[in-house]
Amino acid sequence: MATQLSPYDQNDPPILLQSEDEQTTPAGDGIERLTVTLRVRRFNPELDAEPHWEDYTVTVLGTDRVLGALEQIKGEIDGSLTFRRSCAHGVCGSDAMRINGRNRLACKTLVKDCNPGSPILVEAIKGLPLEKDLVVNMEPFFAAYRDVLPFLITSGQEPTRERLQSQHDRDRFDDTTKCILCAACTTSCPVYWTDGQYFGPAAIVNAHRFIFDSRDDGAHQRLEILNEKEGVWRCRTTFNCTEACPRGIEVTKAIQEVKRALLFRRV
Ligand code: SF4
Ligand code: FES
Repeated sequence: MATQLSPYDQNDPPILLQSEDEQTTPAGDGIERLTVTLRVRRFNPELDAEPHWEDYTVTVLGTDRVLGALEQIKGEIDGSLTFRRSCAHGVCGSDAMRINGRNRLACKTLVKDCNPGSPILVEAIKGLPLEKDLVVNMEPFFAAYRDVLPFLITSGQEPTRERLQSQHDRDRFDDTTKCILCAACTTSCPVYWTDGQYFGPAAIVNAHRFIFDSRDDGAHQRLEILNEKEGVWRCRTTFNCTEACPRGIEVTKAIQEVKRALLFRRV
């Protein structure tokens, strides 16, 4: 196909412009365009007995995220496409989904990193009841989260000033404070898929955040909860959770630390 060099700025690296029949690069702004197909697993409980796949072709910028492509489909092709999102910046944790078979946040996943030469598979996370299209019922996930008492438990008199903590003590649970409750870890766990009762990695991560907090007095209580049949011992150390976490939390390591605290009865 015919290409020509952009005359924009002689000091800039040359920009390749493509002829009109090519749909991957713009004339003018130098930002790559991609024409991609998203293959989305759709399910409307009012119409469908089973989920099915549908293809949508859109042209996006090379810098666009999968969330942007989904917004484009919803805005321009099919307004009934249903998915959760809020911040679009990897903070709220609402748009975890399976993209090409891996749990990711759609707002943090660049389209160009998804092998855009082939259809990009987008489906709901697994292991939670499917409600519609990419939306699952998160209640079982949050029920497990609530079960581990994810809040500071203290005894004695309220202090008159803030509860001080050394940097060393803070470092012990720093990693697990980063959780945004997106459920990417829990719904990538094969034990969670098959065992309807297992607390799942995210609940353990959030228990870890308080168990190892020197200002908290509820560690024993939480460890007893996680010592139950469907607690921490269900983990088979597959590392799926660590690979899935968009915040880079060492989820498996946190689970191991909770197991060790239980074995040695020491935090
Ligand atoms: S640990 Fe990571 S993957 Fe799991 S819920 Fe928290 S942020 Fe999401
Ligand atoms: S939309 Fe908030 S984390 Fe993706």
